[in-house]
Amino acid sequence: MSYDRAYWEQLWAKTLRDHPDKVARRPPNAELIAEVASLPPGHALDAGCGHGAETLWLAAHGWKVTAVDFSASALAHARSTAEALGSEIAARISWVEGDLSTWTPPPDAFDLLVCLYVHVAGSAEAMVQRMASGVAPGGTLFMLGHRPMDPATGKPTAAAGQVQISVESAVAALEPRAWEFAVAEERPRAIAGTGVDAVIRARRVP
Ligand SMILES: C[S@@+](CC[C@H](N)C(=O)[O-])C[C@H]1O[C@@H](n2cnc3c(N)ncnc32)[C@H](O)[C@@H]1O
Repeated sequence: MSYDRAYWEQLWAKTLRDHPDKVARRPPNAELIAEVASLPPGHALDAGCGHGAETLWLAAHGWKVTAVDFSASALAHARSTAEALGSEIAARISWVEGDLSTWTPPPDAFDLLVCLYVHVAGSAEAMVQRMASGVAPGGTLFMLGHRPMDPATGKPTAAAGQVQISVESAVAALEPRAWEFAVAEERPRAIAGTGVDAVIRARRVP
């Protein structure tokens, strides 16, 4: 299966059409909130923002957010949700339709770069390095990757067949003198009840 733009666009269009309430109720990611809630708000990038739950949480907590995804349907839904929350929150968000396999963030631009559960077309290390290039000195890179197999059962997870960011790829990709890892570990998945997530929080040395 190819997890390309057409695949995601079709999936988002169907999901938003068939289950809009379920999508609207999906809370922002608990790992993200736990790891970044104490950071002072600045400029964040949400790479692969989907329907925008994390972007909206960040904006509601004072962050200016650039939110990138290649699904036009997901972005349209996210934008209208932001507008419904009011002009103050909506004005803090820039929605960008872009393909993260080639889209590169502006260099050293973001105090926080979030990339959650994005399937990588190509090498995971190259993806980590592309995302890391957008983090400002002193800024934070926070990434989650769903592992393709549940180590407890050996069964495939929802990410089977995908390449997502792993602890190994993040550690290999980031230059140790330039990055301090606060978290680089696998944790049981809080939602869906199966599998583990790679959890990465790294600070770029100022
Ligand atoms: C599993 S969803 C995760 C969405 C959100 N980050 C979350 O945690 O709920 C993956 C998202 O990444 C987007 N995506 C996948 N590959 C992408 C790419 N190459 N460029 C931009 N967006 C991509 C999909 O459209 C989808 O919204």
